[in-house]
Amino acid sequence: MSIKPEISVLFVCLGNICRSPLAEGVLAHHLEEAGLSELVRVDSAGTGSWHVGQAPDPRSIAVAAEHGVELKGYARQVRPEDFFEFTYVLAMDRSNLRNLQDLTYSSGSKASVQLFSNFDPDPHGHPDVPDPYYGEGDGFVPVFEMVDRTCHALAHHFLSELTS
Ligand code: 4NP
Repeated sequence: MSIKPEISVLFVCLGNICRSPLAEGVLAHHLEEAGLSELVRVDSAGTGSWHVGQAPDPRSIAVAAEHGVELKGYARQVRPEDFFEFTYVLAMDRSNLRNLQDLTYSSGSKASVQLFSNFDPDPHGHPDVPDPYYGEGDGFVPVFEMVDRTCHALAHHFLSELTS
């Protein structure tokens, strides 16, 4: 079995306080369970700058904690270097994907910039992880379910990439 160089993934939403830090924490959790923590780097960022420096939204922290997942880090905005430092840049919805494609257009980046839901094994025709920020707190439960099953599938995807 040959081991390829490190894989790195950046999750991107709008504010980097609800969806993408949740995906970062959940994937890190699944990677740890799969023994892949040292081989895959995980981070998150926002296309917007409103919440830079803030901790994840308490509702994301709570739904993660209910499943034994700790969220770490502080919000930051996507930067041009991200498209060269990460092998995967995954947008939580189509609006953020369009913004990322504008940012990386003609940059020469080889990063795989695509929708997070492309890795959802059970997408039900929903390409977007819905933005739960303005809704009632219960919007975080379906967001967690989508993020969790997709990150589980991502961990398996990375395992096969690392061992193929
Ligand atoms: P996120 O959620 O993109 O999942 O972090 C949001 C957080 C903040 C805002 C919108 C979405 N906002 O408009 O401030």
